Amino acid sequence: MQIDGDILEARIARGCRCFVARADDEVVAFGWLATRTEWIGELELEITPGEREAYIWNCATHPDHRRQGFFRAIVNGIAAQARREGLSRLWIGTIDIPPAKAVADVGFVPALRFTTVWHAGIRWLRVRRAEPSDIDLQTAARQVMAIRGRPLRIGTSMKRAVQRHH
Ligand SMILES: CC(C)(COP(=O)(O)OP(=O)(O)OC[C@H]1O[C@@H](n2cnc3c(N)ncnc32)[C@H](O)[C@@H]1OP(=O)(O)O)[C@@H](O)C(=O)NCCC(=O)NCCS
Repeated sequence: MQIDGDILEARIARGCRCFVARADDEVVAFGWLATRTEWIGELELEITPGEREAYIWNCATHPDHRRQGFFRAIVNGIAAQARREGLSRLWIGTIDIPPAKAVADVGFVPALRFTTVWHAGIRWLRVRRAEPSDIDLQTAARQVMAIRGRPLRIGTSMKRAVQRHH
């Protein structure tokens, strides 16, 4: 699996960690863990995990090795390591695809649901409360995705689309 060397170095430099799964000697899946501010490209929002929290992102399995449990193993492995390190909460974002069920099995519960549309250089975003989820969890999720100090607003918003290579 390949990733741009500059991007890899930048991620490591800002404190992200990469967890990998191997088949024989070959890396066939990976997932990243961040404890500081990270860009969520799928939403064009930043997430800043709270104290003793972290964010799992950019998980992928090589196409030749999919549906063999590698994604599940990566998320499980990161969660186990986070527990050992005394973290109290992990955040993760999933898109609406079948493998996302592995995330629920590990114990993640939905806090917020998002719909995004890109059109004519504009990013349109809809944020909804996940049902069922408790209000404290929703509040915490909105807080880690605060914009200029204000908790992420429930509802719709638009902004100029921007891409970041991160
Ligand atoms: C999403 C992705 C990481 C899944 O990786 P994977 O190693 O194939 O996932 P797993 O084998 O651990 O599968 C997890 C569960 O989802 C199921 N699953 C995986 N792909 C599936 C598919 N295409 N259709 C139906 N079920 C699927 C598996 O059967 C497994 O469930 P089970 O343990 O009950 O059998 C991989 O498809 C990928 O790299 N996609 C491109 C990057 C991406 O979309 N990342 C976002 C992740 S939210």
